[in-house]
Amino acid sequence: MIARHEFKDYVDQITNWIHQYFSELEHLPVKSPVQPGAIISQLPDDMPTEGEALATIMADLDKIILPGITHWQHPHFHAYFPANSSVESVYAEMITAALGAQCMIWETSPAAAELEEKMMDWLARKMGIPAHWEGVIQDTASSATLVAILTAREKPTAFEANEKGVPPNLRVYCSTQTHSSIEKSVKIAGIGRQNLIKIDVDEALAMRADLLEAQIIDDLHQGYQPCCVVTAVGTTSTVAVDPIEAISAICEKYDIWHHIDAAYAGTALLLPEYQWMITGIEKADSFVFNPHKWLFTNFDCTGYYVKDADILIKTFEILPEYLKTRTRGQVNDYRDWGIPLGRRFRALKLWFVLRGYGLQGIQTTLRAHIRLNQQFSEWVEAHPDLELVVPPFLNVTCFRFYDPDMSKDELDASNEKWLRYINDSGQLYLTHTRVNGHMTLRMVLGQTYLQASHLTRIQDVLSSTLTLVET
Ligand SMILES: Cc1ncc(COP(=O)(O)O)c(C=O)c1O
Repeated sequence: MIARHEFKDYVDQITNWIHQYFSELEHLPVKSPVQPGAIISQLPDDMPTEGEALATIMADLDKIILPGITHWQHPHFHAYFPANSSVESVYAEMITAALGAQCMIWETSPAAAELEEKMMDWLARKMGIPAHWEGVIQDTASSATLVAILTAREKPTAFEANEKGVPPNLRVYCSTQTHSSIEKSVKIAGIGRQNLIKIDVDEALAMRADLLEAQIIDDLHQGYQPCCVVTAVGTTSTVAVDPIEAISAICEKYDIWHHIDAAYAGTALLLPEYQWMITGIEKADSFVFNPHKWLFTNFDCTGYYVKDADILIKTFEILPEYLKTRTRGQVNDYRDWGIPLGRRFRALKLWFVLRGYGLQGIQTTLRAHIRLNQQFSEWVEAHPDLELVVPPFLNVTCFRFYDPDMSKDELDASNEKWLRYINDSGQLYLTHTRVNGHMTLRMVLGQTYLQASHLTRIQDVLSSTLTLVET
């Protein structure tokens, strides 16, 4: 056991470890190569009876744990969407851990509640989110979307769903491209997966507003109660953007909650040239984006905004005697703005990042990523054996190996093989999607410390592994 007054005696071990990790990170295999069970088999069956020295634990960290880590902060982590971080965010997270504050209500740390309110406000002002909307930090976009759907469920039922249970005729709509968290939320909310209606998309893979309206009209005729439409600003597969203005107008016409899922692409709203993505948001009801994806703030940190915070609070509020305080009504008690009671002090890392970078620093980094993606997609386009599957957008390119003499199945198999070679090389980590049924590789260029020089390595690894596929 280390006494608190001994903190200084050991802290260098930890900070040196982190410093060394950051220095070596780029040379580690991006994706952990271990086999299932490799880590658990090295861990003893029982916890130690007597406390162990920090040096012993640190040695096992290197020996057992590190080989089983996929390095999400590696500049060549191009898989999924990033969960990027920054030095500023890491510093703040260390302080957050030291404070160990549990920020469920204003009184349990007034600074946490008021900093959270201000950080959400700072971001909203620069992202083009309407001024009267209010924000709250949630853990993940999945939780925020669940919160949106639960709130949407209460509106048409006049809060009866909360009291008596969920009526069987509620319906939720999203596109065929929307994230799986919508389906999960509909299941958890008791609305039922069969009442999630997936609307078809256009050639840009964005939701077709005309088909949405036709479905709503049809459902109303059949006695269903449409309660929520979830649109995407940046789908997970191809970063497609649904027509927010047209869909907001439809939702307003039929009095349906409109939730916008901008988990990844939302960060780009800090660039004025991308604010067209949310034109029409003032008619929507809620919006979510993840600073923990592309805004240099380490996981977890999600910004959730609502037009009418009263409906949100009315949905979640519960007031046992032990949580009654004298400040109620004057301040935000964020426990009423989401699912958990206990809350981490996440606003601190946002504060460090937003102040450390400044708007200009953020914009410069985001634009650099977008420019790199442009260069990468030009390389793909010029390559005789590659093709762009959809036009590149923001910092994401969907592409594949293409040979006109191959069948669809042969092309899919070749692309699967190529992806395996790339990831097995340990030098890059990419993931795939299916676009119109075709196996497609995704390149996401969103790592905080990504440089132009990394593009050369990407091209080298892609070229050398492609040769293996073709031979
Ligand atoms: C569009 C979209 N929505 C929601 C999510 C879920 O995010 P989280 O992990 O924060 O729940 C993702 C994750 O990639 C996403 O791409």
